[in-house]
Amino acid sequence: MKQKDSLFLKLAFPNKNPTKAQIKNLILETSNLFTFKHTLRPSDYMNNEDFLRGYILYFVPVNLSKHYNVFKELFRHPVFVQKKNLKIIDIGCGPSPALLSLFDLIEEKIIDLSHIKYLGIESEERAISIAEKLIRELKPEKLDLKYDFIKADATDLKIYQSLVKIKPDIIFFSNSLGELFEKDIIVMEDFIALMKAFSYKNSDITLIIIEPGTKKDSIRLHRLRDSLIKEIGFYPFSPCLNDLPCSALKVNNWCYEERIWKPPEYLNFLSFLGLQLKYLKFSYIVLRKDGANIKDTFDNSGEIIKNTSHLLNEKGKSRLWACWKGALIDIEKLKRDFTEEEVWLKIKKGAYFSIDKYIVLSDRKVRIPKECEIKILYSP
Ligand SMILES: C[S@@+](CC[C@H](N)C(=O)[O-])C[C@H]1O[C@@H](n2cnc3c(N)ncnc32)[C@H](O)[C@@H]1O
Repeated sequence: MKQKDSLFLKLAFPNKNPTKAQIKNLILETSNLFTFKHTLRPSDYMNNEDFLRGYILYFVPVNLSKHYNVFKELFRHPVFVQKKNLKIIDIGCGPSPALLSLFDLIEEKIIDLSHIKYLGIESEERAISIAEKLIRELKPEKLDLKYDFIKADATDLKIYQSLVKIKPDIIFFSNSLGELFEKDIIVMEDFIALMKAFSYKNSDITLIIIEPGTKKDSIRLHRLRDSLIKEIGFYPFSPCLNDLPCSALKVNNWCYEERIWKPPEYLNFLSFLGLQLKYLKFSYIVLRKDGANIKDTFDNSGEIIKNTSHLLNEKGKSRLWACWKGALIDIEKLKRDFTEEEVWLKIKKGAYFSIDKYIVLSDRKVRIPKECEIKILYSP
């Protein structure tokens, strides 16, 4: 078993090897407190020993993989690809899966950071203590890492005065925004004012927010995206291709991402329980001020489109929904116009692709003609 996976097991069960039933029960209890039983979840849930064990076993590897995907995408871009030093502030960091994902990317030589300054803000002592253990064990040898944690309430706006002065390269919120907004101590206007302060005299900052892939969380996140763009002049790096208002929100729809995931071996037996074991589902935004966008990393200058749905097979045609120039467009190709080997059939949910010809059928409907050249530019 990989070092990381056995460490998760050891931290959750320090004195014995767990049975499958023990693993299952811990994970289901923890998961239920984020879903069906969320109204019963105390705000200091990370201090509950069993909850934390379930979190380490399941949510740390899940979230680590989400962060890995998002960072990998960001580090493709010329503004990041040569970066050696990174200052990152992680708000509501929990056991710090964000930092662990950077460790993986460094170990796999996908990114080439040699110095990281990491500051985690977290209200619960036990989560910080687990983070410290994980960091000590998993830090890549050649990485010069300075890390610190502030045990603080991130809804207390005073703490941000000193954080702003750090001038981080990345300010990171993962699965914490909902909890910060939950009690209405911080509202959207406060958050926008905070990000204004972070980006003032630090125009190179990147804001990353990752949220669960549920309708409610995704809609709130994309509303916030639209406001951050409008009020402070942020520009999406990914997943969006431009700064136009969210095309899904405009038509009362919502948008989420799906990525293939290989869970730790000790979770394989859980697939029948309906937990995410093959795919990660989440929503996210990465915003910068300089207009850098994921499309800069594609080898193409034509019409670039993002597929936001799965390919829908219908009688006589196959369709997908795509985000294109600020609108959610229904794109179809007739079956008589493609073969089984056709690129069209390989466009996965979340992929960016280009076309060089199309026929407009209506405001929101486009057909791809037989002779169109389709290129998949990036399939996350
Ligand atoms: C769902 S966990 C996410 C942890 C980590 N970012 C991840 O992606 O796995 C949310 C974290 O935010 C912390 N948190 C919630 N409200 C907070 C607050 N007001 N101040 C500081 N931390 C908070 C919780 O204790 C918890 O560790």
